[in-house]
Amino acid sequence: MIRAALLLALLLLQPLTATAQPKAETVTSKGGVVVCVSPPAADVGLKVLKAGGNAVDAAVATAFAMAVTWPEAGNIGGGGFMMIAPAGKDPTCIEYRETSPVAAKPDLFADGKVTWLNHKAAGVPGTVRGLALAHKKYGKLEWKTLVLPAAELAENGFTVNAVLAGGLNKVLADAKTTNAEFKRVYGKPGGEKWRGGDKLVLKDLGHTLRVIAEKGADAFYTGELADLLEKEMKAEGGLITKADLEAYKANERKPIHATFRGFDVYGPPPPSSGGVAIAEMLNILENFDLKKQGRWAPETSHLMIEAMKRAYTDRARHLGDPDFTKIPAELTTKDYAKKLAATIDLQKATPSAELAPEIPLDKQSDSTTHFSVVDKDGLAVSNTYTLENSYGNRVVVHGAGYILNNEMTDFNTRPGFTSTKGDIGTKPNQIAPGKRMLSSMTPVIVLKDGKPVLITGSPGGRTIINTVLCIVLNVTEFGMPIDEAVSAPRLHHQWFPDAARFEGVKSHPELVTKLKALGHTITEARQGDGHSIWIDPKTGLRTGAADKRLDGKAVGE
Ligand code: GLY
Repeated sequence: MIRAALLLALLLLQPLTATAQPKAETVTSKGGVVVCVSPPAADVGLKVLKAGGNAVDAAVATAFAMAVTWPEAGNIGGGGFMMIAPAGKDPTCIEYRETSPVAAKPDLFADGKVTWLNHKAAGVPGTVRGLALAHKKYGKLEWKTLVLPAAELAENGFTVNAVLAGGLNKVLADAKTTNAEFKRVYGKPGGEKWRGGDKLVLKDLGHTLRVIAEKGADAFYTGELADLLEKEMKAEGGLITKADLEAYKANERKPIHATFRGFDVYGPPPPSSGGVAIAEMLNILENFDLKKQGRWAPETSHLMIEAMKRAYTDRARHLGDPDFTKIPAELTTKDYAKKLAATIDLQKATPSAELAPEIPLDKQSDSTTHFSVVDKDGLAVSNTYTLENSYGNRVVVHGAGYILNNEMTDFNTRPGFTSTKGDIGTKPNQIAPGKRMLSSMTPVIVLKDGKPVLITGSPGGRTIINTVLCIVLNVTEFGMPIDEAVSAPRLHHQWFPDAARFEGVKSHPELVTKLKALGHTITEARQGDGHSIWIDPKTGLRTGAADKRLDGKAVGE
């Protein structure tokens, strides 16, 4: 009884700021570290490091492995962005976003019936050429050795854990999942539910990966594998042709560079909106002393929300594929941010409708995946890639065994049509043949005195950018250790709907009351999955933090 009373007293003494979010799991190492959502894929990355591969080799192998072991977002049928920080050089970005098939025109979905579980929703996949470009320019080991572990996982099967079993059961039970090949490939033989401990074998995917391993990336875009995708498209009214596949090109692009409190923050450039929006928000926030206010002070969250609203307004106004749309350079300048900061009322929320009433936004899915890698020599890789929705368009290409993305829904699908429900019809991100759809993926590498200190990113559709903002601020402004920075409750506002989402509604009730008094609407939702690495600039020690909101493993040499 006395012990119970003591325990209760102790519990009551816990600070109100205790988070309800699961604590990140860490690993600390002097050598290489890999952190990702899928434990068997993290193990593949670690093996590559141990075999003498560098961080890019490990990232390529992890990405291929996740196409097998994390089918909801790991992929060869989608696209993404890989940030690489070579020692002593400025970081670079390998952009492998999907493109619109040539047959797609701006009015493809103009009837408002965007059927996202549809072959037409698939963009031309970029992942395989993207990983090949990263490997060719920055990798060390032979290509084949990086792809074969994934082929073997698929051919021999791997152990499904409880998280993956739950995800598979959910997607298979959903009445909207109609593609027979998807059900055949991912359904448990006998039609029972998947359980942790079961084995999943993916023969066709294994063969496809083996072809890519043996013949190189071009084998995915030409020949037998391209024939299979074109056949699939023709049979089901899809648009991707062999010519689209052959023409696909991944790009190396100059990242967006922002400075913040003596740190250098590098993020992906358009066609991702992530780098521009992060730079804009950090530049706005640099005008205020957040540290003095405190991480959980209402003033800090108020300013973060106001910065988010302004950056997301510009995102909708200006951002799209830079090869098709001129993007104003001022968006990432300190002067521009100063002007925006001056429009923030410290006592009151600015209604989103006042920022740009003419362009409300639509909804985005939150299924993407991020992983971080560093090797013993300090080469850092931050990779986010996606199929768009969870399991993409839930179509498996007959005979090739891989899941297709539904990235075409990331375009503004109804030109000129805006609605209070959230449609957006602005020009910069409308469909055009060969164009890349705007992304929110924000793999980031933060440098201090020229050396990487933070590698981070997240899934989460448009929430991605704000998840990354929270982690970057937690580390750079508030000096949190990486596990705390990853676990701490996250905040999101995307301009429209005019409401902030906060993970800490229960753990920070006073903060929420004060934000509401300032005029903010606050809702609650889980946000992101930010597998991150901190590299201590003094000791060089690397701490990988696996975000446990979903699943994840941090492994080190
Ligand atoms: N499909 C999610 C994104 O690119 O933002």
